[in-house]
Amino acid sequence: MTEETLSNLLREDRRFEPPAEIAESANLKADAYERAAADREGFWAEQAERLDWSQKWERVLDWDDPPFAKWFVGGTLNASYNCVDRHVEAGRGDKVALHWVGEPVEDRRDITYAQLKDDVSRAANALTELGVQTGDRVAIYLPMIPEAVVAMLACARIGAPHTVVFGGFSADALASRLVDCEAKVVITSDGGYRRGSASALKPAVDEARAKTAEQGHTVEKVLVVRRTGQDVTWDDAVDVWWHDVVDSASADHTPQAFDSEHPLYVMYTSGTTGKPKGILHTTGGYLTGASYTHWAVFDLKADTDVYWCSADIGWVTGHSYMVYGPLANGATQVMYEGTPDSPERGRWWKIIQDYGVTIFYTAPTAIRSFMKQGREIPDKFDMSSLRILGSVGEPINPEAYVWYRHVIGGDRTPVVDTWWQTETGSIMISPLPGVTHGKPGSAMTAIPGVSAEVVNEEGNAVPNGSGGYLVLTEPWPAMLRTIWGDDDRFRDTYWSRFRSQGFYFAGDGAKKDEDGDIWVLGRVDDVMNVSGHRLSTTEIESALVSHPKVAEAAVVGAKDEDTGQAVCAFVILRDEAGDGGDDIVAELRQHVRKEIGPIATPRQIMIVPELPKTRSGKIMRRLLRDVAEHREVGDVTTLADSTVMDLIKDKESAGKGED
Ligand code: WT7
Repeated sequence: MTEETLSNLLREDRRFEPPAEIAESANLKADAYERAAADREGFWAEQAERLDWSQKWERVLDWDDPPFAKWFVGGTLNASYNCVDRHVEAGRGDKVALHWVGEPVEDRRDITYAQLKDDVSRAANALTELGVQTGDRVAIYLPMIPEAVVAMLACARIGAPHTVVFGGFSADALASRLVDCEAKVVITSDGGYRRGSASALKPAVDEARAKTAEQGHTVEKVLVVRRTGQDVTWDDAVDVWWHDVVDSASADHTPQAFDSEHPLYVMYTSGTTGKPKGILHTTGGYLTGASYTHWAVFDLKADTDVYWCSADIGWVTGHSYMVYGPLANGATQVMYEGTPDSPERGRWWKIIQDYGVTIFYTAPTAIRSFMKQGREIPDKFDMSSLRILGSVGEPINPEAYVWYRHVIGGDRTPVVDTWWQTETGSIMISPLPGVTHGKPGSAMTAIPGVSAEVVNEEGNAVPNGSGGYLVLTEPWPAMLRTIWGDDDRFRDTYWSRFRSQGFYFAGDGAKKDEDGDIWVLGRVDDVMNVSGHRLSTTEIESALVSHPKVAEAAVVGAKDEDTGQAVCAFVILRDEAGDGGDDIVAELRQHVRKEIGPIATPRQIMIVPELPKTRSGKIMRRLLRDVAEHREVGDVTTLADSTVMDLIKDKESAGKGED
């Protein structure tokens, strides 16, 4: 036990073979692993060839000054040209790029690649007219409307790095990002539709602009899309309507080729503490990584597939797997503005049915909330078009994986559990749908071209059957290049832990099972130490969710006089389980004991109505630890719903569910 960095407790024996048809025609077959291992740079060069370069690179990788990488050195290209123009030039202008679905049921627009090219060109001309030059930063604060995609590609087209700020973020969050990257222009809208009503965005931009001014930064122009028609406050010196300047601009725009290392975008990620980090991605390597992985991991057949990624454009998933990956690959995709339960709970499944979606990519948090509602809702829809399902954002526990495959995928579809980060830019660890057999809960192995390992404190690979730290041992094209304006923080955060080995430390704990397959166990900050055993919160959560009455669970370690830390669990029950019955707590403790062992038995279980989550669906365990240790609850400003903690604290003081 002492040798183990992280205890390895949960067993999972279910396996799913790749379907024969997918295996036969798979874009990547098993030999890709060996080819990539034999000549990694050659393999990536082959993937970069999938793009159109104005000038070919002289050198695949410059890693002379780690951790500062340069990929496809000397090459030039335009990301927007690669995502739009080249498909039109190849005769696919009439192909639908976006089936856009607004939240109001009648609101739909199909946009072809030819139309997208015109829209992007107009927006690029308008931005130039507004004074945006190559290298200037443009912030995008928009709902999930086509203009968001157009705005991103227009920025890329003129070489102005964009920073997309999630539309659900506050004026403060927006202001700090505007200041950090010194954004010259903000693109926003009057508002957007969420949960059946129009919610305003422009007032947050006005407020953020006032705040940036206090900090000595001036936003020069605000370009406003009219989406909801609600009233907006207007400053003639700054505010400009999109329909005034973009609609009237010329649809001719010649994209200029930029250096492969030209900055494409900055994406802020909050991390656990402190100031958000502006993750910088550049052009050639990033686009290579996004398009290659989208093609390989989802086995994209661009002529026939209808792809849908439910992520918001404000997250890296929306960047890599809604904009740059799928569009570079010429895919047809769905883009949906609203929430899964508007106007009714089956809305997502109806969209899959209506558009014949074949590839669907979403997050475990969404899957578990559908599990909670029961299968009657998805069962009403015909989703037989689906052939591949994907998951991203956090570990998918085996029960949720099996439910997803079974209920949504009709037991036909492989599930690709894709591990990556804002920093990695593209998928790093995942099954390949035509090659790998599915193992619920495991992201399996690094994809061809990527080198991942699980190591101990000293940086040595752990044997199969043990746990440790997840690292990437070789550079990859879509890797972050730095933290915007802070090279020291970049070095410290990701490259100092295993400096002598030169490994990138992802911050996640993981284990390798007997077959050498990787199970990501969550952030290392979330690991508990009970009587000298390092336990993963994820494994205990998975055990809880495998109980038929449980929909979701979050586990934290709370200080304990006897054991150092004790396991405390917060549990949401499935709708059909009602209040769970009088013995629910004893039942669940017994269940964990049986599934994992006495060491993992929760000291305390609280039945709660909701869990505190960030807007991207990550559980904020820090706040739950505050409750478990009877402390004042800390900062709740990054919660999607800040009232959730009140509901949980009420339960606490009422003593319900205490053991
Ligand atoms: C962190 C990165 C990647 C886009 C969305 C999140 C966790 C992500 C998985 C997965 C287990 C996962 C990790 C990672 N994570 N995908 N398939 N299995 N954990 O991007 O906000 O940068 O978060 O999300 O902890 O480090 P992000």
